[in-house]
Formats: sequence, structure tokens, C-alpha cells
Amino acid sequence: MSVYGHDRTPRINKHPFREGYDLPLGRDLLLDGKELLAALHDEVIAVGFFDPQYRGILDRQHYGNEGERQRRRVELPQMSTETIASFLAELGRVLIPSGHLFLWLDKFHLCEGTAPWFEGLPLTVVDLVTWDKGKIGMGYRTRRTAEYLLVLQKEPCRAKGAWTRHDIPDVWHEKATAEAHLRHAHPKPIELQRALLLSTTSPGEVVVDPAAGSFSVLEAIKGTNRDFLGCDLVTGTTEVGPRKRGA
Ligand SMILES: C[S@@+](CC[C@H](N)C(=O)[O-])C[C@H]1O[C@@H](n2cnc3c(N)ncnc32)[C@H](O)[C@@H]1O
Repeated sequence: MSVYGHDRTPRINKHPFREGYDLPLGRDLLLDGKELLAALHDEVIAVGFFDPQYRGILDRQHYGNEGERQRRRVELPQMSTETIASFLAELGRVLIPSGHLFLWLDKFHLCEGTAPWFEGLPLTVVDLVTWDKGKIGMGYRTRRTAEYLLVLQKEPCRAKGAWTRHDIPDVWHEKATAEAHLRHAHPKPIELQRALLLSTTSPGEVVVDPAAGSFSVLEAIKGTNRDFLGCDLVTGTTEVGPRKRGA
């Protein structure tokens, strides 16, 4: 008997925002992700994607001359361990029971371990997906051919009714497009993110991405009948604060 099921009960919250707050869905908001998460009620979000701007690689490596691409990466605001922990705590709070969090990891954090980040949080690691980006040419020291996506689930952990697709391999081959690289230094694979959010949400549910970069999750969600709530401190273009309604 399979542990997977197709009987997922949708959790649709018409207004996921705390009293007095409002933010537009389906937009690329220019906003601090912590403000976006703080505006949300507990347990209103079906799925979160979180792709922190890690400091680790910059702290550990001396780069060669990568020019423009490296300059753009350094310019993006990096996240301290404390900042990442505070995003994770908020994501743990806003996810619905058995909702999923997809956390992008770099190689260093994969090796060093992330367990301390989840201590005391209602989140458990349930899987890992490797993204094989294919051949990527020059710059081998800093351009990884693979990236890693940790799959976490809010308690209670269960697959039946929470994960409806079982054709997603644990190594996913997808090339990031040249167009995506022009938009951002770290674009993530749209087809993989679409497969994952389709597997773990029902139509009408909300997917959150509080550090959205090129807004690849917004792209992935298009045409799926799910709602997107996401922002970036630098790359968002829709200026809006989590203002009190009517203020
Ligand atoms: C690794 S990138 C995300 C890439 C994205 N997943 C994609 O597919 O394009 C991390 C992003 O976090 C943003 N960022 C850093 N601190 C932030 C904050 N406090 N709130 C929102 N975004 C933040 C950076 O500007 C950067 O674009």
C-alpha cells in the first residue's frame, strides 16, 4: 500500500494576514521577508520556499576574477545565521500542519549540518532533492554543477494526503536558462519548483517565498491556480509595506 495519497484537503484562507495588514498576492514585492512573514497569521500557508543569501561561500573562499557575476552576487544582502534562524522560526509558525518547507542549501551547509537551525521548531527534515544544473562551462571553482534542496515538513509528519506526486526523482536535471541568469545570480529551477508545489498544495492555497530573488517561484506558480506571496529586499519591483489597512 502506498503512503502517498491524492486526497489532499485544501486549506484556503481568504485573508491570511493579521488584523490590520494586507499585502497583494501574485506580485514581486519589494520588502523585507521578515516583515512579510510577520504580517501573516499562524498556520495559513500551505508551502514555503526559502533560498537564503548564504554568507558561507564568501567567508570561506577566495574568488578568482569572475567579474560582473561575482560583483552582483556580493551586492546581494547576505543573511547571518541568526537571520536565517529567524526566517525559519517564522516559516515554522505560518505553515499549516503537515505543510512543507523547501529550503535551498549550499554545499557547505549540507556538509556541516543544519540540525541546530530546527531545534525547538515544529519542522522535520523528510527528504533531500539534488538539482543537477548540467554543464556550466568556465568558473568551475565557484559555479557548482549541483545544488541541494532540503524538504522539511511541519508536524505532524505524514505523506498520505500531503504529498501527492511520487514521480519526482531525488536527482532532478534542469538547466537554469540564460535569461534567468540575466535576472539574478542564483536562479532556481522553475520546473522542479512547479512539480514540488503541485505535489504539496491544492488549488487556491498560498505558497510563500520571502527571499525570492528572480521570483522563480512566482514563475513556477503561473497557471497552476495557486496563489503566490513573495518578496525580495533588492529585486522586488512592487513597492508596498505591510501597512495597516486604511492607514
Ligand atoms: C539566493 S537568492 C534567491 C534566489 C531565488 N530563489 C531565485 O530562484 O531567483 C537570495 C535573495 O535573498 C534576498 N534577501 C536577502 N535578505 C533579505 C531579506 N531580509 N528579505 C528579503 N529578501 C532578502 C537577496 O536580495 C537575494 O535576492
